[in-house]
Parts: sequence; C-alpha cells; structure tokens
Amino acid sequence: MCGIVGYIGSKPVADILLDGLEQLEYRGYDSSGIAVKTETSINVYKAEGKLNNLRSELALHSDEFNKSNMGIGHIRWATHGAPTVVNAHPHTCNCGSLVVVHNGIIENYKELRLELESEGCIFKSQTDTETVAHLVALMYAEVKDLTKAVQLATKKIQGAYALCIMHNNEPDKIVVTKRNAPLIIGLNDDGYYIASDVPAFIKHTKKAVYLNDNQVATLSAKDFILEDENGFEISPKIEVLPWEPVALSKMGYKHFMLKEIHEQPDVIRNILVGKLHTPDSQIILNEVKLNKDTLKNLNRIQVIACGTSLHAAMIGKYIVEDFCGIPVDVEASSEYIYRKTVTDEHTLVIGVSQSGETADTLTAIKQSKARGSHILIITNRPDSAMAREADSLIPVNAGIEVSVAATKSYIAQLTSFYLLAIYMAEIKGSMSVSELVNLKAEMLLLPQKIEQILSNKTVIQDCARKFASTRDFIYIARGINYPTALEGALKLKEISYINATGYPAGELKHGPIAMLDETMPVLSILMKGFVYEKLLSNSEEAKARNARMIALTNSNDPKLNDLFEVIIKVPEVIEVLSPIVAMIPLQLLAYYIAEFLGKDVDQPRNLAKSVTVE
Ligand code: G6P
Repeated sequence: MCGIVGYIGSKPVADILLDGLEQLEYRGYDSSGIAVKTETSINVYKAEGKLNNLRSELALHSDEFNKSNMGIGHIRWATHGAPTVVNAHPHTCNCGSLVVVHNGIIENYKELRLELESEGCIFKSQTDTETVAHLVALMYAEVKDLTKAVQLATKKIQGAYALCIMHNNEPDKIVVTKRNAPLIIGLNDDGYYIASDVPAFIKHTKKAVYLNDNQVATLSAKDFILEDENGFEISPKIEVLPWEPVALSKMGYKHFMLKEIHEQPDVIRNILVGKLHTPDSQIILNEVKLNKDTLKNLNRIQVIACGTSLHAAMIGKYIVEDFCGIPVDVEASSEYIYRKTVTDEHTLVIGVSQSGETADTLTAIKQSKARGSHILIITNRPDSAMAREADSLIPVNAGIEVSVAATKSYIAQLTSFYLLAIYMAEIKGSMSVSELVNLKAEMLLLPQKIEQILSNKTVIQDCARKFASTRDFIYIARGINYPTALEGALKLKEISYINATGYPAGELKHGPIAMLDETMPVLSILMKGFVYEKLLSNSEEAKARNARMIALTNSNDPKLNDLFEVIIKVPEVIEVLSPIVAMIPLQLLAYYIAEFLGKDVDQPRNLAKSVTVE
C-alpha cells in the first residue's frame, strides 16, 4: 500500500511531489509527507489526514524549499503504527541526515529494531519503515556511499518494499530499490521522476523504466545508473508508456463514485465494440491465447480475486459453468495462497483485479504460474504487475476509476466474463444457436437498460433517505444474484459504515433470521427466473418476522405490493444477465445513503483502492 514519489532534476520539486501524491491517493490517504533537499539540509514536512493538510502545512514554509530541485514524498495507508504525524513518512535516522519513504512491509522489523536499538538508534515512530532509515544510515557510516549502503541494507531486510532514499551528504543523489512492490522511473530532459505508479508522472514524461525486484537505481539530475543487488551494472529497458495524461474531473457530479456509476452504459458499449457486433456474429476474443483444442478440453478453472473483483469472479463461476459445463472454483486470493491448492498445467487460472496490483492476488497468480497453469488476467490495468504475469490478458477498459468503492470496473469485469464464457461456449459447442443469439441480443441491450435506471433515481433516493439511519442491513438473493447481494452489501459497508451483510436467501432460516425484527431492513433481489418463487417465499418468511422489506425487482407481480414497503423496479432482463442490471440500483442506494449521512464517499475511512500488502 502507500504511494511513493520522487524527483531529481532542474525543476522546483515541491509541486511535482504534491501533484504526484495526489495521483496516488487511491493507494492510501491517512497521512502524507515530503522531504526536500535544500542547500544545507534535508527538510521534512508531514501531516496527518488527507493530502490537503500537507499542502496547508507546506504553504507555511514555502520560503524554505522553493529553490529545491530534489525530493521524495509519500502517501500512507497505515499498516504498522497509527496514522499520526510521527508515523507518517519520510522517516529519518538519528541525526536526520538520511530520509526514506517506503511502500510495503518489512517483515523482520522487530528483530531489526532490537538490533538497531542496541547499536544506539533511537526510534521515534512505531513503523516498520524506520528500521530502514537507521539500517541504511549505519551502513552508510561504514561505506560512505549511499548506493552501496542500500545494497548492503536490503540484504538484511525481509518482506516487501519499494524504497526511495536521500542522504544529506550526497546532495545530488536519490537511491531507489524494490522487492515485491512496484516502482517506476520516468525519464525526461529536465530530470528523473520516481513513482509507485505511472499517473504520478505521466503529465511530465511517457518514457519509463519499470524496476525489477532487487535492482537498485542511483539517480542524479543528469544521470541514471541501474545495478543489481551486488553492484553489477544493468542496462535499463526503457519503455514508452501507452498512456495519456487524464485530467481527473468529476464532470459536474458531486462525487467520482456517482460519475463512475453513470459511465457504466458507455463502459459496456466500449467493451462490446469489436467483440460482439450482432446477435448472430461470433464473439471475437483474440486476447485469449489458449489454443482452441486446449480450451475445448479444459476440465477445470480456478478464479482468484479479492473484494469486489471476488464477487465478479463468483458470478463468473455461475456463467462459465452454465454456458460451458466446465467446473469452476472461486476463492479469495488471501485464502488460496496459504493452503495446498490443487493446480497444475491442466488448470486454467483466472485472476480478476481492477488494479492488477493487489498483493494477495498477485502472489496467488505467481504460485499457480509456477505450477504450470495458463494464467488469464481480467484487469482494468493492462500495464500492471498482474498483466505482466499473464499468458492471456483481457483488459476491461473501464477507464480510470477514482472512487475507492469499485463500480464501473465491476460491471466491466462482469461484461468481460460474459464475453469469455460465450466465447468458450462457442468453441465447445455447449450452447444452442438460438440460446446464443438470444443471449447476445440481450447483452447488446444492457447499456440502454442501465440508462433507464439512471434516468429515474427517485425511488432509490427516497429509499436511501428512509433507511439512512439504520444500523444494520440485510441483502438476500438466490442463484446467480447471491454474489450481487454480497456486492450490494459491500458497497453499503464501504461507504456508509452500516453493518450490511448479503445472504443466500435459503440460508436465512439457518441462523440469520434470528436477527430479524421491525428495525431490520431486508432487501430482496427478486429477478424473474428459476429461483423467483423460492426467493419470494424466503421474503415472506422475513416479513413474518416483522423485517422492513425492500424489493429490487423486474417483476410486475401484484403480490409484491403487500409484501414490500419499498419496490425498486428495474427493466426486464433475462435471468443470466440480471446481475448487471440489478447492481446499478444497489450502487446508487449505497451512494445516496452515504451521501445523506455526509460520509466521505470517494475516500472512505480505513480503505485504499489498491491493496499492495498481504
Ligand atoms: C481493495 C479495494 C476494493 C477492491 C479490492 C480488490 O480492498 O478497496 O474496492 O475490490 O481491493 O482490488 P482489485 O484491484 O484487485 O480488484
């Protein structure tokens, strides 16, 4: 987690660092800090909370650093130590000559800290990172060379890190290195840019070098040397990034989340272009590199993901099993990596991730790759670490998603899963022509159906107002919409902090029903189809316990009027595609509840958009 930035060159550094950090706020936002080199010293400025607090802090000191052309910065998502000023990065050695910013976790920090304290190091924070500052400073005192000191120090460090380090005795040098955390160097005529992710410097340059694990780069204003951990020089692979700077704008919406919800019809249209033309044309999915015979004979698929992507993966299981008859296992990456999974070269492993960076999913992918599985990645970031591990890469092209709560990337992942499942079904011949034509015709209509929902939000807004003060919320569904219930509940939890849970409706009677009384809202995702009547009965059971019933439905069934206090209607849609249509009102409901409660919708407390620690 966390984002790091750095710059050394001919331009004033402070704004470069602050703008870069702003672009990395999706990685954390509980505190931030920068260190800049002045003629005589390295000055450190830190603030608790959002980046704006650091901006205000810096405004008081601009005369101290406005001539500086060299510095490093950090935006934090706390892992070790509370989000306070003391624990904010940059961290320093005893005398303040050495400063470091870090993304990752130093796993042996406790042992290192004891060792360093016995050598006279005085710790000011509770972070794992401060060990790096002291360790490198001690090494520097011996070898008097920052690059060598970093190479020596990292040999003693266990864990994951991207590090950016400066020393006051080396006035024209920033040393950076990484292991299992991203770090990119941007190259331009005015100098070098360092960042955890491209958006931090893309407006300055498109030329970049992605550092590999254990490489150490020494940057000066005019020079850049890349070495391995033993000091052997490596020639850097310079890439031209296929990115355009995007001016992130809310386009008149109050929050990015609301804007991103409204972008969803176009997100689906963009995905379908070039892949699904007409109901009777075949799906084109050149991204899948498995040959057709292997695909035909696949007998097992595993899907791994976290958070919202995990819910997309769960729906992926329903549709791949339904369309192709191939057994699919879905598992949270964080569980998958710590057990003996049965994966081999006959298993297709699909990783689903908005960011392509989530540490648990990345580790899971690497493990299955090492066992010989074909790795297919579905991601919104085709330039990400996961994409680099992929044998087949399906970019979902949702565009940059700023709001921490994922919305359009989820709908894009689902749409991509439908295309993949239909593509495989066509190769396997596991669906009839009429089923395929009907399904594709319905897919092409999805953007319009979502537009209909977005053009009339009154019932959802009223429902949000009515239930905003509730403490708990239950979502129930069956079949393919069970993951929709989980995702609806997750959206509400994430941004409103209401204790919301999704259940398979049939499970209600096995325990959760005990919680129901006249204070408990139960939202039933009642889509017409195979399990409609069953779910209706489960809703009756909840109503009989006095729960406050809400229906999200595409049915005109008059019975619903007596059963439900609120009915949110969505357009007709075939059951298998209903998770896409049903999700939109649930995103809006979560949004409006959070908004009525005055929560920080786009940057909810304790969360980060990209979770790069295990
Ligand atoms: C974080 C985000 C979630 C996201 C999850 C997985 O927890 O806050 O919104 O669903 O990571 O992220 P990924 O980028 O792998 O989809």
